[in-house]
Amino acid sequence: MSFDHERYRSLHRSGYLGRRVQYVEETTSTMDDARAGAALEGDASPGTAYVGGRQTAGRGRQGRQWVSEPGVGLYVTYHLVPRSAAPTLPLFAAAGALAVGDAVRELTDIETAIKWPNDVLHGGRKLSGILAEARHGMRVDVFLGIGLNLRPAALPPEVRDIATSLEAAAGFAPSTEEMLAALSASLEHWSEVLESSPAEFVQRWRARLVTLGRRVRFALPDGSVEEGTARDVTATGDLVVESDRGVESQVAAGDVTIIG
Ligand code: BTN
Repeated sequence: MSFDHERYRSLHRSGYLGRRVQYVEETTSTMDDARAGAALEGDASPGTAYVGGRQTAGRGRQGRQWVSEPGVGLYVTYHLVPRSAAPTLPLFAAAGALAVGDAVRELTDIETAIKWPNDVLHGGRKLSGILAEARHGMRVDVFLGIGLNLRPAALPPEVRDIATSLEAAAGFAPSTEEMLAALSASLEHWSEVLESSPAEFVQRWRARLVTLGRRVRFALPDGSVEEGTARDVTATGDLVVESDRGVESQVAAGDVTIIG
């Protein structure tokens, strides 16, 4: 694995996102690289795409592992600095999911859907996952990690049957450079929509969610677990669920399992 910076520069067309790429062949996690870059590089870091050829401790949501072998996936974390403190972290992750969908469509003609909150699916299988982390200091730094399966990989049994890749779905996989350039442009677009018109953003995200209308199991603040139906999403990205008892609640990602 390596990264052709010259080729990437010829493909890159967004304004500030991804103008700078920090590529390393091997890292623990690009989330760590982005946090370290933000601390070390000051004003040079926002907008940078931190890319790893392979991650030895790639992480997913809720403490899960993200298997990150060389040559089979794109592993990138973007350092974003929101203009206002208003958009919530789940919505930045949603911007990542919308961006992946657009970039994938542009390069492969494949259509994707989003499983709430931000898994990108093709044919019901996971193609990409998004992890958003924030650091609150003098300003808010958002680290938006995107893992995108380019080619089939040796995966652990628990995810083998629920994952897919661009090569499996489209018959070919774009190069890392092409994918990153398309992703940087689409993420810049969706971050801009999120910051300038959050209500419109949520509407567009809602339209791509396959979860609404589906059965869910969820935990309530008092610790009780109920089942019901996913009905909507809120302006901050929570899921609105209606329990089988007919009671409506808003739940965050860690508290919901989509059944089936
Ligand atoms: C998930 O679906 O659980 C989120 C997966 C996020 C994986 C990406 S790969 C690039 C970045 N670095 C990490 O360690 N995780 C994210």
